[in-house]
Amino acid sequence: MVEFNFAHVMGCRFFLFFVATGDIELSKEINESFKQSSQARTKLPSGIEMSVHVLTTGYWPTYPPMDVRLPHELNVYQDIFKEFYLSKYSGRRLMWQNSLGHCVLKAEFPKGKKELAVSLFQTVDLMQFNDAERLSLGYIKDSTGIEDKELRRTLQSLACGKVRVLQKFPKGRDVDDGDTFTFNDSFTAPLYRIKVNAIQMKETVEENTSTTERVFQDRQYQVDAAIVRIMKTRKVLSHTLLITELFQQLKFPIKPADLKKRIESLIDREYLERDKNNPQIYNYLA
Ligand SMILES: *[C@@H]1O[C@H](CO)[C@@H](O)[C@H](O)[C@H]1NC(C)=O
Ligand SMILES: *[C@@H]1O[C@H](CO)[C@@H](O)[C@H](O)[C@H]1NC(C)=O
Ligand SMILES: *[C@@H]1O[C@H](CO)[C@@H](O)[C@H](O)[C@H]1NC(C)=O
Repeated sequence: MVEFNFAHVMGCRFFLFFVATGDIELSKEINESFKQSSQARTKLPSGIEMSVHVLTTGYWPTYPPMDVRLPHELNVYQDIFKEFYLSKYSGRRLMWQNSLGHCVLKAEFPKGKKELAVSLFQTVDLMQFNDAERLSLGYIKDSTGIEDKELRRTLQSLACGKVRVLQKFPKGRDVDDGDTFTFNDSFTAPLYRIKVNAIQMKETVEENTSTTERVFQDRQYQVDAAIVRIMKTRKVLSHTLLITELFQQLKFPIKPADLKKRIESLIDREYLERDKNNPQIYNYLA
């Protein structure tokens, strides 16, 4: 029998939310200091790139928390990070936002190895197949704990979309009660790295709005974090120089007017102030 394998998780990006008001976490710094920490060096299984975005709930739209039972391998990573994080900032209420997580998996198909860029939910589904050849919808639901509608959509993305790494029985575009799944052992693709879109076919208008909203909120957060990061280093900076640095740092297109709005918002929230003698200059407020 050919050995199929979705087991090798190469990297994961997790999202950790904490409930707090007022302070912007410098996600990047926390991520970096985690890498240097004794927890990461001594406890983290080697060979995985782990990255965690730590976000304040106040900055993000509240997503409905979505349940998922992570396989032991992934749970370990989250636990180690949480231990590290709470040792730095004690007493915070933390919440993993697993519906936003992403992973890269190495998968071995009979026709070749591939790297799959998938969501954390897709990862959890695929990892079920490391120990079994054929699984029913009901079984996957029990073992992953993913909510019914979300699970069906995830399986649909893996078995009925453009990239079909799973095979569904019987064939069809929708996932129905009683359906079963196996690996697609004839899977091939021209590229080595493949992204399997999470929401493939049935993105409703409502979902589309919230995706757009999510991207917008994400960017807003990234802009705020970049402004604070730059100002924390520079302490004092003119408007023009700040905008120039932001354009260098931000990886997505953004209008100067939108940057200005974020600066105003940070002034309102007292991260920055306008210099009393020159309104074109900002001071960082620690
Ligand atoms: C966190 O660190 C990892 C490993 O160095 C890196 O690949 C990732 O991009 C970083 N993530 C963030 C959010 O800074
Ligand atoms: C398995 O993958 C191949 C190529 O990647 C695809 O053509 C085929 O339709 C897939 N099989 C099923 C049953 O989805
Ligand atoms: C989702 O929204 C984007 C931006 O508003 C739009 O371009 C796209 O056509 C929409 N897609 C669907 C499926 O409604």
